Amino acid sequence: MDFAIKVGIPEKQRGACVVVGVFEARKLTGPAKTLDKATEGYISSILKNGDLDGKANTTLLLHNVPNALCKRVLLVGLGKEKEYGDQAYLGALRATFSALNKTGAADATLFLTEIPLKGRDEHWKISRAVMVGQESIYCFDTLKSKKDEDKPKLGKVTLSATDNKQLENGKEAIEQGLAIANGMNLAKDLGNLAPNYCTPTYLADRAKEIAKAHKLKITVLEEKDMEKLGMGSLLSVSQGSRQPAKLIAVEYKGLKKMENPVVLVGKGVTFDTGGVSLKPSPDMDEMKYDMSGAASVLGTLVAVAEMNLPINLVCIVPATENMPDGQATKPGDVVTSMSGQTIEVLNTDAEGRLILCDALTYAARYKPDVVIDIATLTGACVIALGHVATGLISNDDKLAAEILRASEQSTDRAWQLPLWDDYQDLLKSNFADIANIGGRAGGTITAGCFLSRFTEDYRWAHLDIAGTAWKSGKEKGSTGRPVPLLTQFLITRAKQ
Ligand code: BES
Ligand code: MN
Ligand code: ZN
Repeated sequence: MDFAIKVGIPEKQRGACVVVGVFEARKLTGPAKTLDKATEGYISSILKNGDLDGKANTTLLLHNVPNALCKRVLLVGLGKEKEYGDQAYLGALRATFSALNKTGAADATLFLTEIPLKGRDEHWKISRAVMVGQESIYCFDTLKSKKDEDKPKLGKVTLSATDNKQLENGKEAIEQGLAIANGMNLAKDLGNLAPNYCTPTYLADRAKEIAKAHKLKITVLEEKDMEKLGMGSLLSVSQGSRQPAKLIAVEYKGLKKMENPVVLVGKGVTFDTGGVSLKPSPDMDEMKYDMSGAASVLGTLVAVAEMNLPINLVCIVPATENMPDGQATKPGDVVTSMSGQTIEVLNTDAEGRLILCDALTYAARYKPDVVIDIATLTGACVIALGHVATGLISNDDKLAAEILRASEQSTDRAWQLPLWDDYQDLLKSNFADIANIGGRAGGTITAGCFLSRFTEDYRWAHLDIAGTAWKSGKEKGSTGRPVPLLTQFLITRAKQ
């Protein structure tokens, strides 16, 4: 889908469809009013008939509207004007694209980005419109022999700017929206891809493609390299799998000067059976999404590279399967991590922390300003925060605040959980320096505590995306989260 920005009035648009908003109850927005005037009250007469009240998530498609040059007019309900906020705006955009995609319209001009929205500027509204538009046409049919035939016709979307001064700003917002959407699409594709295709080797190959396309330095460590580095914890997870583990590191240098990079570390378990501590069968297929942290890190990298952000960024992905096998790690095994700390593996299903701890130790060599790891780490996080917010844990309150601001700005929600010492005792082991599980209570926090033992030398935050990375049920699929949050975090840093 192509996007453009222009200043204009609804009745003068020649295209296939013009979109204007209506608040509850039948209250026309500015652009809807001008269109109503030009059509001599046609819009308001239709509303009076009772076909659209302005309720959120409703639309009404009109054809051959008198005096309008366009073929169609789509009226979109925006809900109560008093309650008009982020959710109403995003909901209206979703309803708009869903309605447009059902028509034969090849292009559309939206008069929604100029309607005042509390706390949001035009740049924000425009980039969101682009993201929702791109999201509306996402489809994953790579592995279907017959591709979907009735793909939406909508190829060009024009967004309205309030005045000429906003045009440059608007163009930048479109580019930003497209870059984030592309990053999300990559994350979704990687997540949705079947686990017999999306292996650690596949992830490494895709990362190499990205590095080549954007001329970035990439290092892929093989298992023998990891052995030399003493990554006994990561290797204890991969030893039960026929697929070799990979540790991928891609360096993006958007700054000439040597500024310490932001390092993102994404959990890349391409399938999590639980290992010898085998998971129950129902819904186990969804453990193909256990590499969503890795996917979000690569997605963010693509968005950053497309925007040419002036920042330094390193993306690290420890990638492995977690399988049961004759050679697999057993509960009770003690392994030695790259940091030198020994770990008693009491549950082989708590494998995410076992691969992350070595990747986090490895991250120190990049002299990071901050490190953020992203992982589908605990089922407990889904219980605590549901599918709405990502769990956030940090050893630095300023960094946590920075991430929370980015989550607010991107509406990609996160919520902080405590990293109090009180929880650390739960990880005591009788036979090693630390156990890899802390019991059922506070499962997300004790997982964070485990990681904190390996991140003492730098500012660090952990994002548990177990509840937010994918949707289950009829609409099963990757969400592309938290690419918007991470990208926003980096955009804000680039401006400082
Ligand atoms: N990948 C899972 C976490 C997960 C489970 C994410 C369900 C989303 C949905 C992780 O490797 C895991 O199995 N964690 C265990 C930890 C436990 C053994 C301490 C869990 O959450 O049950
Ligand atoms: Mn697991
Ligand atoms: Zn896992």
